[in-house]
Parts: sequence; C-alpha cells; structure tokens
Amino acid sequence: MNTSVLKAENICKYYGGLKAVDKVSMEIEKGDIFGIIGPNGAGKTTFFNVCSGIDRPTAGKIFFCGEDITGMKPEKVAAKGMARTFQNIMLFRFMSVLENIKIGFHLQLKTGFVSAILRNKTYQNDEKFTLEKGREILAMIGLEKYANTLAGNLPYGIQRKVEIARALALDPKILLLDEPAAGMNPNETTSLSEFIIKLNDLGYTVAVIEHDMKFVMRTCKKILVLNFGQKICEGTPDIVKNNQQVREAYFGKGLIIGEKLHVEN
Ligand SMILES: Nc1ncnc2c1ncn2[C@@H]1O[C@H](COP(=O)(O)OP(=O)(O)OP(=O)(O)O)[C@@H](O)[C@H]1O
Ligand SMILES: [Mg+2]
Repeated sequence: MNTSVLKAENICKYYGGLKAVDKVSMEIEKGDIFGIIGPNGAGKTTFFNVCSGIDRPTAGKIFFCGEDITGMKPEKVAAKGMARTFQNIMLFRFMSVLENIKIGFHLQLKTGFVSAILRNKTYQNDEKFTLEKGREILAMIGLEKYANTLAGNLPYGIQRKVEIARALALDPKILLLDEPAAGMNPNETTSLSEFIIKLNDLGYTVAVIEHDMKFVMRTCKKILVLNFGQKICEGTPDIVKNNQQVREAYFGKGLIIGEKLHVEN
C-alpha cells in the first residue's frame, strides 16, 4: 500500500538571484507528524507555499497522494484535501467560533449567491450540514464550550486551535501549520503540542513549521531542517538533535531552549 501523502522532488523557488528554496526533497507519509525547522528566512514558509499551490516552483515537482499537483491552483489543492494555516492568525474576530469553523466548509457547499439571498432549500441544507459538522469538529477536539464565543475574545492559544479546527472542516488528508506556536507562552505551547498529538491520534497527518525547538522535539516524529533554502538534515528528533551541521547552523552554541547540548569544538 502506498502511504505517501506529500512528496517534494528537488523543489527550487528562486526570487531573482535569491534561492529561497533550493533542491529540497522530502516525503511525508500517512500518520506522520512532520516538523520543518530552520532559522529566519531559511525558506520554510516558501516551501509550504510551493507545496500548497500558492507559489509555483522554479523547478521540481510536488506529489499529493501520488498525484502530480505541481502548478495546480491553491483552491484546487485545498479541495483535494491539503489544509493549511498561516503564520499570522486569520480568524474573523467579530464572528463566533462556530461561525469561523463554518467558513472552513465553503469548498464543500452548493450554496451560491442566489441560494444565499433566497435562503432556499440548498441554503438550508448547507446551513444544517455546516452547523452539525462544525459542532462535531469542536466536540472532537474539546472546544465545544467556546462555540458561541466571539473569536476575538478568546485567549491567543485557543484562537490558534480554532484556526486549526477550521482547517479540519476541509476533512484534510494533511494539515500544514505555519508556526502555530509563535507568540505563545510555555503553557500554551505545551497545550498546543498535546493538541497536535491528539489530532494525530485521531488519524490526521500533520506537517508543522516551528521555531521552538523543544516543541518540535516533543511533538514531531520526523524533522526536516532547512538552512539558506537547502535541506541540511532529515530524520527523527534524535538524529536531528545529534547532527553536527544542524547544531552549527541552527543551535548556534549548542543551546536548545531549556536543554543544554554538549558541543565539542
Ligand atoms: N515573494 C517574495 N519575493 C522575494 N523574496 C521572497 C519572497 N518570499 C520570500 N522571500 C525571501 O525568501 C527567503 C525565505 O523566506 P521564507 O519566508 O520562506 O522564510 P521562513 O523560513 O519562513 O522564515 P521565518 O522563520 O522568518 O518565517 C527570505 O530571504 C525571504 O526574504
Ligand atoms: Mg515563515
């Protein structure tokens, strides 16, 4: 059985002379929690953008569940089951959590402009579907108590989870999360790590970009390290932690947040 969900083959993305992503290959399998790490400007977001169709690669190919999706429009890639969240929170602050989740279903709905104005049967069916499914998702991940709270009134850590919940409305085959722990306090970060592991236990395959090393080491099964657009290492947290090139490029003097590494000179 082929378990490959997302595969990148020699992906390059150049902006003029700048090699934002340079010949990066990787493969994410069903059931993975796949971490992508690297210093600021290493090319992590650009790589996600190429994978999800937002940017077209300068060279290389992207395969999603075995299908070549290189150059495909982002809406089409999303409809195939690749959901993602962005580095900045993108919630409607003055809408409730449930309303925000309902928006995540729009690609699956039949309601057009006319149906919405007439509030006809199609609209009513879609309303019922999104309401039920939205509640289901919130219950599945333990956020149902926030269903009617305005998104903007929630603590930051919960807002991040609501964003992820909205991505689940796509019924995704993979979730791409771009720095979900950025700006979180240590308690929120721990809770987010548990949340992602729970999603994975529920059957979701996850790819996550993150800066917080402790978070990545604790959460991910496999890690890809980028530096100046290039892959410098890929493997389990142990392999990455002990890779000399990674330590030099990323950990600087060998200090992982909250954890000392012994670095030989
Ligand atoms: N649209 C663009 N035009 C020109 N250069 C770009 C564009 N997008 C990204 N870059 C450049 O490509 C490089 C990689 O950027 P990218 O945002 O992918 O890095 P990142 O690893 O996500 O960094 P961060 O950790 O800060 O989010 C950077 O040098 C950036 O300035
Ligand atoms: Mg980024």
